[in-house]
Amino acid sequence: MAKQEDVFKKVISHAKEYGFIFPSSEVYDGLSAIYDYGQNGVELKNNIKQYWWKAMVQLNDNIVGIDSAIFMHPTIWKASGHVDAFNDPLIDNKDSKKRFRADVLIEDYCAKLEDKAQKEIDKAKKRFGDSFDEEQFVATNPRVVDYRQRQKDILSRMAKSLDNDDLADVKALIEELEIADPETGSRNWTEVRQFNLMFGTKLGASAEAATDLYLRPETAQGIFVNYLNVQKTSRHKLPFGIAQIGKAFRNEIVARQFIFRMREFEQMEMQYFVAPGTELDFYEQWKEKRMNWHLSMGLGKENYKFHDHEKLAHYANAAADIEFKFPFGFKELEGIHSRTDFDLSAHEKFSGRKLQYFDPERNESYVPYVVETSVGLDRLFLALFSHCLKDETLEDGSERTVLSLPPALAPVKAAILPLVKKDGLGEYAEKIFNDLKYDFNLIYEEKDSIGKRYRRNDAIGTPFCITVDHDTLNDDTVTLRYRDTMEQERVPVSELRRIIDEKVNFRNLLKQL
Ligand code: GAP
Repeated sequence: MAKQEDVFKKVISHAKEYGFIFPSSEVYDGLSAIYDYGQNGVELKNNIKQYWWKAMVQLNDNIVGIDSAIFMHPTIWKASGHVDAFNDPLIDNKDSKKRFRADVLIEDYCAKLEDKAQKEIDKAKKRFGDSFDEEQFVATNPRVVDYRQRQKDILSRMAKSLDNDDLADVKALIEELEIADPETGSRNWTEVRQFNLMFGTKLGASAEAATDLYLRPETAQGIFVNYLNVQKTSRHKLPFGIAQIGKAFRNEIVARQFIFRMREFEQMEMQYFVAPGTELDFYEQWKEKRMNWHLSMGLGKENYKFHDHEKLAHYANAAADIEFKFPFGFKELEGIHSRTDFDLSAHEKFSGRKLQYFDPERNESYVPYVVETSVGLDRLFLALFSHCLKDETLEDGSERTVLSLPPALAPVKAAILPLVKKDGLGEYAEKIFNDLKYDFNLIYEEKDSIGKRYRRNDAIGTPFCITVDHDTLNDDTVTLRYRDTMEQERVPVSELRRIIDEKVNFRNLLKQL
């Protein structure tokens, strides 16, 4: 089995074993691509949300937040283009009866070409050592040039065919490239068809009077239809932004890879309203700001890259993804889109209401343009969780599993551990717990050996373990153990709040932005 698959399996089993993520409805054998967050998962998720919200709303005096309803007027989805254009091209394999996204099959083919190009580059790097000029090599090595050119040709042909709704050509491309079902090798494909990703539901007490609704496939539309309410009540001038965190629903054709692609997931989106003609500058600014936000979490610059879109969504005049190196390769983590005035103009047209902004500097009214940043909360969770989960061999040959999350995001900040329960150590430890619980999320544990308790806390990412022993009763000091270095030091109980706060406060992350 490939190593990548082993790593990913470990991520999934660790997430379940330590109360981060459970398959939904597990006692009924689960529900495909739906997951529940457990006691540690919800804390990590809430901390990620808080970090995003603070970076967006608290640090920017021209960005405010909202929380709009999941159910919205059905015409919104007609106006936004989702009823007509929120489709994925699907294709079935007649032999395996498996369903695939035609565009993903082609993109995966291109990813393999890119792997080949990268291998050539890595080989040359090794061969030439310090004298290696990567830029020149990439521009002149015939094999690398060929692999890259082929990718470009394939992707732009696919983009053109999808834009023109020429699904026969998408199928022809799959056949020409001899793409096979990855599991069975069969090339016996059906025609390519469009499949709308929105879930429908009904509002109303009786079947006859019911209105057809959709579960929102993105949170963004709740922001668009509220933009004037917010602008008028907050009195913000352009440029200003509205941020929102909330659930979105998509009937994904292929929902695999754990929480990477789910049918119910959470988005953290921000719409930045700007004057027409300025949007591409703000688009570049937000690309950079969002990349910095990701980098501030310390998962390593080499694990992120931009992917500029060839095929633009129906609403965009520029778009890029921030991709992260997940255990299954580089994949989209966040989308940054210059959405033009597409959405607001469409809502003007469909609602018959004016959604214009009067610009006092230009002395004119217009429909603002919008730059959007949209990150999947669950994907961010997966990026952090999979990157930070490590197996380590210690000096004495023993092993430990540690989840080295940024301390500000860790579900539990400190574990309070009496060495033994008797002799008054339990009571002393409880006193510390009760004193610190107003500031930090803590756990109190007295069962099992201290070593086992340390390991359990390493596995859920607790940055500090605080051990109360017999000396504590005499000198009011405790042993403070650091998760990452496993170093231990003796510190006065009165210093605990300051030491923990210094490490876990969001300030540490926010100051890097
Ligand atoms: N409002 C723009 C929008 O929704 P998108 O690129 O379709 O754009 C934004 O989605 C982000 O939402 C993605 O970058 C991804 O992180 C997340 N996302 C999209 N579909 C998802 C799914 N099925 N499961 C988990 N996350 C998803």
